[in-house]
Amino acid sequence: MASSSHPNNVGILAIDIYFPPTCVQQGALEEHDGVSKGKYTIGLGQDCMAFCTDVEDVISMSLTVVTSLLEKYNVDSKQIGRLEVGSETVIDKSKSIKTFLMQVFEESGNADIEGVDSTNACYGGTAALFNCVNWVESSSWDGRYGLVVCTDSAVYAEGPARPTGGAAAIAMLIGPDAPIVFESKLRGSHMSHVYDFYKPNLASEYPVVDGMLSQTCYLMALDSCYRLLCEKFEKLEGRPFSISDSDYFVFHSPYNKLVQKSFGRLYFNDFQRNPSFVDEVSRNALAPFASLSGDESYRSRDLEKANQQAAKHVYDAKVQPGTLIPKQVGNMYTASLYSAFASLLHNKHDSLVGKRVVMFSYGSGLTATMFSFRLQEGQQPFNLSNIVKLMNVSDKLKQRIEVTPEKFVETLKIMEQRYGAKDFVTSMDCSYLHPGTFYLTKVDSMYRRFYSKKDTMSR
Ligand SMILES: CC(C)(COP(=O)(O)OP(=O)(O)OC[C@H]1O[C@@H](n2cnc3c(N)ncnc32)[C@H](O)[C@@H]1OP(=O)(O)O)[C@@H](O)C(=O)NCCC(=O)NCCS
Repeated sequence: MASSSHPNNVGILAIDIYFPPTCVQQGALEEHDGVSKGKYTIGLGQDCMAFCTDVEDVISMSLTVVTSLLEKYNVDSKQIGRLEVGSETVIDKSKSIKTFLMQVFEESGNADIEGVDSTNACYGGTAALFNCVNWVESSSWDGRYGLVVCTDSAVYAEGPARPTGGAAAIAMLIGPDAPIVFESKLRGSHMSHVYDFYKPNLASEYPVVDGMLSQTCYLMALDSCYRLLCEKFEKLEGRPFSISDSDYFVFHSPYNKLVQKSFGRLYFNDFQRNPSFVDEVSRNALAPFASLSGDESYRSRDLEKANQQAAKHVYDAKVQPGTLIPKQVGNMYTASLYSAFASLLHNKHDSLVGKRVVMFSYGSGLTATMFSFRLQEGQQPFNLSNIVKLMNVSDKLKQRIEVTPEKFVETLKIMEQRYGAKDFVTSMDCSYLHPGTFYLTKVDSMYRRFYSKKDTMSR
């Protein structure tokens, strides 16, 4: 454990991810929903979608991932001094998910852990992460680790948004001398009041979503954050920033097509700022759009297509490596951006030392920040290769159970009835779950929730 004075290179020391093993293939869902073939797989760019059955929820997933991270890295529970949770899945309007997680620390007697939950759509995880990093960098830091948890189950009412669901929880250990270091000065935020996606009906888990508006808001916030990040870079470095100054770009991913559009948009930003930032073929392709006003540019479908096409070769190198888990698991709300980052680690871990990664976090409503990481090898056990080995993304994806769309729809119906209900026992069917996974057993007449852990000896 590092000393409590002068923390340097504060950032992420370790990451673990959990997603439910139950999933539905997007191709099968297209057929089931009677939409044209390719709409979800090519049109939205999604391969598969994870979902919680009646025995899993945001609390069980976060219990699983926190326990797993502490065990894998052999971190003593007493060494955690702050625990922050990001989530937009409301289970209780007052009691935080963080307080449920305190059960993990009970045995060690450590109740001295600051932090509660942060909520604003998919941005809560980023707020939680910034809070933890700020704590480690502050004068109130006591030398212990911070722990950030992003946990969400994304489910939509029947209709066009339903295939953009997903579920996961991510845990990130925060401290000094990290392999994933914040470039704290390189940051741009954009926040405003919009009704693009929100959850006003407290009796339902489903959001009210204006899909097209949320897409435009995302792109406008992206433009604004990128402009600010570029300005800050120029002030610090005395030269302009362009896409070539970062090795990778990682985006919050409600569905992959939006990530493709977003990177195209960054590419167009570079072209507008200085045409020499892009190659000659792209300059020619984008020239007809150079005089569009801001509003016109968000509406132009031709520009959207031209951007994606022009940026494709750079997208393949700088964005695609961070798309695996979001395409396979779906939108994980607060966990989405960090699962995209986990995908990048998984795909490129042996060549990431010294590299810069620009991250874009977006939460409807709206709140957005673009920020930057610098990667370094780190010290055992907190080094990049070990993080990738212990996350074990390949096996987690391989060991999933594909269920039929009918079963998926049936499960969502049960969850609709259970949402906000009391006095019931779950199916307790944890046959799909891996040993060590927490699951919900019952909710009593006082709405109190009870969880068990699948025996590590059972199969
Ligand atoms: C994204 C969303 C609006 C799409 O629903 P929709 O209106 O039915 O979908 P569209 O008709 O626009 O089709 C989606 C895409 O698939 C394409 N498509 C449709 N059918 C296709 C097919 N058979 N083959 C290939 N592509 C197809 C469309 O052209 C479109 O692509 P484009 O945007 O590049 O033009 C909807 O899923 C939604 O609201 N999701 C939630 C959004 C969200 O998560 N917001 C909050 C977080 S930011």
